[in-house]
Amino acid sequence: MSEMDTLQTELLAQVEKAASLADLDAVRVSVLGKKGIITEKMKTLGSMAPEERKAAGQQFNTIKTAVSEAIEAKKEALEESEINARLTQEAVDITLPVRPEHQGRVHPLYQTYDEVIAIFGQMGFEVAEGPDIEDDFHNFTALNTPKDHPARQMQDTFYLQGEENGERFIVRTQTSAVQIRTMEAQKPPVRIIVPGRTYRCDYDATHAPMFHQVEGLIVDKTTNMAHLKGCLIEFVKTFFELDDVPVRFRPSFFPFTEPSAEMDIGCSRANGELKIGAGSDWLEILGCGMVHPNVLKACNIDPNEYQGFAFGIGLDRLAMLKYAIPDLRTFFESDLRWIRHYGFVPLDIPSTGAGLSMTGGNKR
Ligand code: DAH
Repeated sequence: MSEMDTLQTELLAQVEKAASLADLDAVRVSVLGKKGIITEKMKTLGSMAPEERKAAGQQFNTIKTAVSEAIEAKKEALEESEINARLTQEAVDITLPVRPEHQGRVHPLYQTYDEVIAIFGQMGFEVAEGPDIEDDFHNFTALNTPKDHPARQMQDTFYLQGEENGERFIVRTQTSAVQIRTMEAQKPPVRIIVPGRTYRCDYDATHAPMFHQVEGLIVDKTTNMAHLKGCLIEFVKTFFELDDVPVRFRPSFFPFTEPSAEMDIGCSRANGELKIGAGSDWLEILGCGMVHPNVLKACNIDPNEYQGFAFGIGLDRLAMLKYAIPDLRTFFESDLRWIRHYGFVPLDIPSTGAGLSMTGGNKR
């Protein structure tokens, strides 16, 4: 065997021996790289006699081609086996049980939101919304509470800094402001509920500076006080899941309703435990009344032609009562242990079976 044949055999053996792509590359560099064996041999051609150079050149090229081809073939083989090795190594066992994940909970307040919307939704109310930042007109004046009206003192208002046309904006103290916004935008018949955030400067176990109300408003030509009572009695029965709830309507005062009433539901408070539905005690749960003619006038609606009723319920209070949560402040502390205890598994259908909330939609 000639020297060249021996060299070729030896180089091909080196290629064959490479166990990884990195090994193979090292072989390539040592044979064909700038200072590789074949490259060095090529460099000697210049100093050879022409005859010798031709024969040697051919031989070197043959070796170069043979080794290059062998490297290519080996590279493909190695790549394939490396992929196969990775596939087996990284295979996922899809039969393994998944690790349990923490499922989020629905805040009891939003559960209550959904339940209330579902109940009134079934009665034909639509959901309306308004801004949290309000002006004096919508929150007070148009609700028959002009400046210097003593009723303004019933609501400890947060005023925003700065003035516009001599007026300071506020964060709304009541969702009643949306009564006005709705009647400005839409002529009767109106039949809306307004769940939303409200704000007052107050803080104890049953009051938070930010809290939630749901407002109700019906305006048409015939709605009267009997409808108001029927609607609210139906609501409390459905909400508290009771066949019968004793109720009483106590005369009260709100500037935007006349007559005005507060609704109490029957309860017992034996051994410090509050039970709704029966007993000799009463629990106030909402304010209501017939829409005051001045409110209709402020919205350019003729009170001789139209009438209706309104009500306002504290949503946080409803949630506290139904789900036996003693302190309102815990609602807003974002304590995960609390939400895991009091929260609801998502997609719990409201107990009325009334289906998903918000289907009524807000047409405004
Ligand atoms: N806006 C009243 C409040 O925050 C609640 C209320 C009472 C709303 C009577 C009404 C109503 O619509 O008719 O204290």
